[in-house]
Amino acid sequence: DFTVQTDHVKAEIQPTMWGIFFEDINFAADGGIYAELVKNRSFEFYTPLMGWEEKKSEDNASYITVMNRSSKDSANPRYAQIKLDAEKEAFTLTNEGFRGMGLKEGLSYSFSLNARTLKGAPVTLHIELLSHDNKVVGKTSLKLDSPHWDKFTASLKSTVTDPKGKLRLSFEGKSTVDIDMVSMFPSDTWKNRPNGLRADLIQKLADLNPGFLRFPGGCIVEGRELATRYQWKKTVGNLEDRKVQINRWNTEFDHRPTHDYFQSFGVGFFEYFQLSEDLNAEPLPILSCGMACQFNTGELVPMDQLDPYIQDALDLIEFANGDVSTPWGKLRKEMGHPAPFDLKYIGVGNEQWGPQYIERYKVFAKAIKEKYPEIIIVSGTGPFPDGKEFDYAAEELKKLDAEIVDEHYYRNPEWFLENADRYDNYDRSGPKIFAGEYAAQSVAIASPDNKNNWQCALSEAAFMTGLERNADVVHLSSYAPLFAHAEGWQWTPDLIWFDNLNSYATPNYYVQQLFSTNKGTQVVEIGYASNEPVTGQEELYASAVLDEKNNQLILKIVNSSSKDATKTVRLEGDTKTTGKGSITVLKSEALGRVNSFDNPENIHPTTEEANFRGKKLTINLPAYSLTVVKINLK
Ligand code: AHR
Repeated sequence: DFTVQTDHVKAEIQPTMWGIFFEDINFAADGGIYAELVKNRSFEFYTPLMGWEEKKSEDNASYITVMNRSSKDSANPRYAQIKLDAEKEAFTLTNEGFRGMGLKEGLSYSFSLNARTLKGAPVTLHIELLSHDNKVVGKTSLKLDSPHWDKFTASLKSTVTDPKGKLRLSFEGKSTVDIDMVSMFPSDTWKNRPNGLRADLIQKLADLNPGFLRFPGGCIVEGRELATRYQWKKTVGNLEDRKVQINRWNTEFDHRPTHDYFQSFGVGFFEYFQLSEDLNAEPLPILSCGMACQFNTGELVPMDQLDPYIQDALDLIEFANGDVSTPWGKLRKEMGHPAPFDLKYIGVGNEQWGPQYIERYKVFAKAIKEKYPEIIIVSGTGPFPDGKEFDYAAEELKKLDAEIVDEHYYRNPEWFLENADRYDNYDRSGPKIFAGEYAAQSVAIASPDNKNNWQCALSEAAFMTGLERNADVVHLSSYAPLFAHAEGWQWTPDLIWFDNLNSYATPNYYVQQLFSTNKGTQVVEIGYASNEPVTGQEELYASAVLDEKNNQLILKIVNSSSKDATKTVRLEGDTKTTGKGSITVLKSEALGRVNSFDNPENIHPTTEEANFRGKKLTINLPAYSLTVVKINLK
């Protein structure tokens, strides 16, 4: 039976304890949260017309060419030029979207493009929404008649719901028309913002009540080679000025290249900061430290050429927090956010290790702390615990008084159960922990056969009781990856799966949500009668927190055994209960069970009000379950 020492506060829980990790992997940004429906809108993919299908007139009198003005515009060099012959039928271009376009019946779509016509000779543009079987399900038209580049906009409505819609553009006239930045957004974006995000997906993030948002990754920070690392300065300002780049995850799930996974950076650093603010989550950007992905080339910037990388970090802090009179603060204002974003954390490198990382980290840390002593630096340890490189980095960072280290665990469910006590004896004088990426792997790390099954989710819950019990050292944690498009993923398992119209939460999501929305403010002791922490005895795992805001005691108990259990929980200390509260259970008798588009609530939490008499509570813990007990205090 359990004893809870309600007066014995072991640790304060950081508001950042449970957060989210966002990376543009599995089409999470373009084709995912970024609501843009047009793929390759500025013709910058390797194959300039990828995503577009042209229909020429029979004698080729009307045709398209792709122009490159790179000496004038290196960020957005290409545009399409369409030469029209009025005598012939219209020239049409159809965009396929990101594995189709999700269209919704009755919803309006905002179309725009930049265009100019030869000497202003008018061109009529017919804009049509097509269903998957090429029926016209929405239409409007525009007159393009400007001799200079101009933005033209139109709105059209879909008469059907179709996950595989398309956009057809037909050009008519006797002229030559140049087009670029062809774009279409649904009108129901998150907070109805233009250039906005998919509301259903962002709502799922908001429902997690995350303490922080880590962005933009992940390996994407590093790049396969330095040239394709994530450079935040190229992701802010006008959309046209954000240079499109091949995505580091441009592969199929079996690692074959896909050739069509690019980053438009329509979701860039401004949008990430804005999203953090919307979610009331601390922004946590991670920057390149001058090392490309060590799993790939391992390209390094020589130490004497590190300055631009460090300057990027310093300028980012100015972009987020600087006064509007500073150059980067001014840009933030011009982008619509004069108030600072109140950045508190910055990450230096992702999954990097060895002496090369340590010597680069030192230079970053010195420069950042000299200018911004209040900013907390997150450093990486090697890729995974129990590797030599991990131990080396951890030791060195300890010597350097690093503030927070980012540890990643992609392990099997057994590892998560066995490591629920990982931080119980952790050196309290060392850096704090950011458990920055973790997910139980049902088959093997990054195996395409991994499933978001209940066994994995339950083992993560057991592990998370250990994170929570050690909230004095674990200050942040996040599951990874966050999103996956059902028809375009490179990595599984993932927290939220989506297609062009729908999404579903995995059992792992519900585990995260139960911890995050029941975070509490202070950890108190929960143990067996002997006060030993509950880390696997009788296949049970447990943690207890006080929630000062709601005046509650909250217990989280995992029963990882195949048998139901009934346990007594004795509350010790002066705390008095009202006798009321609730019990929430997340469970499945089958460890292999998953949620799906067809059955999104196969595994989901259920809550019942509960009455507790006195300070000795009897709690039923079903087989294979996570139970959250909330006890209202007087
Ligand atoms: O989450 C997927 C990848 O796993 C991340 O990009 C990387 O940091 C880790 O290796």
